[in-house]
Amino acid sequence: MSLLNKYKPQNLNDLVIPNTAIKDLLDDMANGYIINKLCFVGTNGTGKSTAAHLMPILIEGFPPNTVHLVGEEKFDVSNAINQLSTINNFGWAAQKYQYVLFDELDKVKNSLAALWQTMDTFNDKVIVIATANDFMKIEKAVRSRFQLLDFGLITADDFLPRAQQILGQENIKLKDSYVLGQLQTKQSLSDMRKYFDTLSDIQRNHNAGRIQQTHYV
Ligand SMILES: Nc1ncnc2c1ncn2[C@@H]1O[C@H](COP(=O)(O)OP(=O)(O)OP(=O)(O)O)[C@@H](O)[C@H]1O
Ligand SMILES: [Mg+2]
Repeated sequence: MSLLNKYKPQNLNDLVIPNTAIKDLLDDMANGYIINKLCFVGTNGTGKSTAAHLMPILIEGFPPNTVHLVGEEKFDVSNAINQLSTINNFGWAAQKYQYVLFDELDKVKNSLAALWQTMDTFNDKVIVIATANDFMKIEKAVRSRFQLLDFGLITADDFLPRAQQILGQENIKLKDSYVLGQLQTKQSLSDMRKYFDTLSDIQRNHNAGRIQQTHYV
């Protein structure tokens, strides 16, 4: 199993979130402060989808029923509206809220007006969490309904504590300076997937005995 899959974040503490305002907001939501329409924005691999998928679980304390939509150029609006109709019908009474996760909202090229008219008929018991690379590419009427959370850049320094935690669990105990130096080679991409590639490289080189003894603690 790849390190990326093995160490998928299971709670907020596993999440690398350099922006403390975002971390506080996610914490507050997990503890009952609710924003009904939230859009996570940032470049590829900054953890938007991961955070979005975690939120319903953290808010409810178990994995709740969730409508999951994925944006694409010719998004099927009537199919989405059909899926949303299940929200009122299935009596999801055990849940505090009902959830719609809309990944890649900015990839939709056709109008979502009909979908949002439907959404607006729901009361504040529905929480919509969207993710997007480019907020400005989202249809204006839709965009204006969302509170925006910018995931920004994930630097090598931001990722270092999580990297050391993972390497430690793999029984690889290296100095921060060495691990940081390796992570920095991927920093310009600010992509968590690339940092995980570095961890796999480190693990492979460790297993092959290629890392100098002076780099170990
Ligand atoms: N905060 C995190 N800490 C550690 N690993 C993470 C974190 N967030 C995401 N990952 C891992 O990095 C990978 C990419 O994360 P994710 O898919 O959430 O990024 P994204 O921002 O939605 O990217 P994209 O814009 O390409 O959809 C996932 O495999 C996930 O398990
Ligand atoms: Mg994503």
